[in-house]
Amino acid sequence: MARIIDAPLGAGGACDPHAMHGTWGALSAAAARGLAYTDEVRAKTDALYENVKHVVPAVEWPAYAPLVAAINDMKRAKNAIILAHNYMTSEIFWCVGDFRGDSLALAFKAAQTDAAIIVQAGVHFMAETSKILAPEKTVLIPDLRAGCSLAASITGADVRLIKQKFPGVPVITYVNTSADVKAESDVTCTSSNAAAVVEWAAREWRTNRVIFIPDEYLAKNVAAQTGIKIIAWHGRCEVHERFTAEDIAELRTSYPGIVVLAHPECPPEVMSAADFAGSTAALQLYVEEKHPAKVVLLTECSMSDNVAAAAPTVDFIRPCNLCPHMKRITLEGIYDALKEMKHEIVIPEAVRVRAKQAVDRMLALPKEKPRAFETGRQPVAVELV
Ligand code: 13P
Ligand code: SF4
Repeated sequence: MARIIDAPLGAGGACDPHAMHGTWGALSAAAARGLAYTDEVRAKTDALYENVKHVVPAVEWPAYAPLVAAINDMKRAKNAIILAHNYMTSEIFWCVGDFRGDSLALAFKAAQTDAAIIVQAGVHFMAETSKILAPEKTVLIPDLRAGCSLAASITGADVRLIKQKFPGVPVITYVNTSADVKAESDVTCTSSNAAAVVEWAAREWRTNRVIFIPDEYLAKNVAAQTGIKIIAWHGRCEVHERFTAEDIAELRTSYPGIVVLAHPECPPEVMSAADFAGSTAALQLYVEEKHPAKVVLLTECSMSDNVAAAAPTVDFIRPCNLCPHMKRITLEGIYDALKEMKHEIVIPEAVRVRAKQAVDRMLALPKEKPRAFETGRQPVAVELV
């Protein structure tokens, strides 16, 4: 069941994010940049290794430590911060990330930071969200190829056509979209607040029917939670669409008593069969609060490592799918981004201002705990446009 979804990146066959990029790749990457595992580097990084020692083998650490030390030095010198999404590999997430979390938490941080430079350790739409909220900052993405199948599924022109077809129906857009798409939307949401935003929009527009784009599965899952009629788009997350209800049945047979947690980008049958579902932040919170003896996270692979690093007594079973876009972000990519100040996110001001309105509406809603999706619900149909 363990799967790698982007073999061209150099996957070694095991479901191991480090295998894709390669520890030895990091070692030669450090050497190519004139960085070595010296006593000084060791002194600067020993405490950081403590955070990841359960998930990064000691033999691998000398490959990462020189880059970690150099990145942290550069951050201080340049007044930069790194916003690290939950899907980053652990040496990025725990050792150079200043703020860690799901896409909602990172958006809040981007809006609040005093730093001059934001390096987004995540994918392109997340960096755009940071720039939308913090236009005066320099926002860098270490690899421009770090996209997202959901963001790629829809354009601003598509949204204009949808609005023509359904005039007056509020448009709720998942943050996993380009700034152009956000600019055409009434309000954005993340998987942490999708149901709350849909309920809010239905009240605000006095309607029982909303447009929710572009994730078809998230739309169906939100419809099942809220009972609100949804007009949806046919976008899919290429990582989460691969999980099946059969996977869960197999897991329960092989690992009796296992607790199955799923991200709401998974198909509705998976949500019905899981024990708990929610955003990456909600999944992490579940493990922290409940401490299940044995757990599986039906989401991107690095998430389990990052949660496991902080919950060493929990047994993680790890059939997972790698996100090839998230895995474009590497320590050496972050190092180069900070050193050479690349790749800067630029959004036309007219687009940014309209997109910000939609993101601001989301951020202005009452702050609540990441909302869990109730599992076991019957799948609900949506109107696909
Ligand atoms: P979260 O909002 O749960 O962090 O999810 C973002 C994402 O890209 C999931 O695939
Ligand atoms: Fe996009 Fe899916 Fe990757 Fe998240 S995991 S960034 S939704 S492709």
